[in-house]
Amino acid sequence: MAHDTDSLHANAPPPQVRESDPARGCSRLRGRVALLTAAARGIGFASAVRLAAEGAQVWITDRDGAAIDQAAQAAGRAGHTIHTRTMDSSNAADVAAVVADIAAEAGRIDILVNNAGGSLHTPYRFMDEDDGHWQRVMDLNLMGAVWASRAVLPGMAARGFGRVVNFGSKAGRFGSLIAGPNYAAAKGAIAALTRQMAQEFGPQGVTVNCICPGVVMTDRTRGLWEQRRSAEERARVLQEIPLRRHAEVEDVAAAVAFFASDDASFVTGVTLDLNGGQGMA
Ligand SMILES: NC(=O)c1ccc[n+]([C@@H]2O[C@H](COP(=O)([O-])OP(=O)(O)OC[C@H]3O[C@@H](n4cnc5c(N)ncnc54)[C@H](O)[C@@H]3O)[C@@H](O)[C@H]2O)c1
Repeated sequence: MAHDTDSLHANAPPPQVRESDPARGCSRLRGRVALLTAAARGIGFASAVRLAAEGAQVWITDRDGAAIDQAAQAAGRAGHTIHTRTMDSSNAADVAAVVADIAAEAGRIDILVNNAGGSLHTPYRFMDEDDGHWQRVMDLNLMGAVWASRAVLPGMAARGFGRVVNFGSKAGRFGSLIAGPNYAAAKGAIAALTRQMAQEFGPQGVTVNCICPGVVMTDRTRGLWEQRRSAEERARVLQEIPLRRHAEVEDVAAAVAFFASDDASFVTGVTLDLNGGQGMA
């Protein structure tokens, strides 16, 4: 079956582990089992590599079976083992079954990174978005995280330890010039969900935090950014970012590793703006 995001990745190069390895020699996550959703590429893949480099046993899921095989091979060439499962994060039954299967095989899941998300190229204007556009974007960005969290939280609570890292966006905090209202609303909702989950599961030793990046230069967004914005527009946007650059996937991976680690053991319910100062609150 053809999927609406497949074309976005049609000509994308296979994932690469970049040369610099800021986690070298760091073992903050030794003994932890981590699961990252929709992580064959982009932010999720970089975060998976970072967690593995910090000593975690890492599992990734993705809808694209060929891409997760390539991701595991790329990580392997860089000296990291990453376990893979095919899973559609927009399908409740698939998420429940696959996450339960991973938890059974790994023995437990200590760290859940709800990375699955995106605007799915649905329309930008409110009046152009129909209920189908809303449903698909809500299912991937919000319900995918709800379903995966539902599958791991009882085990985390029973063991008295867990780390959940959710993905919001600058779109859900300050609006977006690229994605539409369905995406902004879904990302706002996941920040609210983060605070409520943090409140409910804190007493059981589970932290829940939310990362809200601005534009992150993945292989996909780098091409889109150059196709869709003129050189003048790109230069103007950079002038609005105090740090004068966009995020790289490694910037986001570092934040994921922090929230997953014991260094963040007293941090929960946080919404982290990771946007170079483009939006401040
Ligand atoms: N890239 C950005 O600029 C940016 C900015 C802010 C927030 N985010 C958020 O960060 C997260 C990761 O974004 P990204 O740009 O790295 O992702 P991406 O669009 O590059 O996609 C990553 C992976 O998701 C997989 N995928 C898509 N739909 C799926 C589904 N239904 N089930 C399973 N896998 C599926 C794809 O096959 C792909 O391998 C998302 O939640 C996104 O909303 C991204």
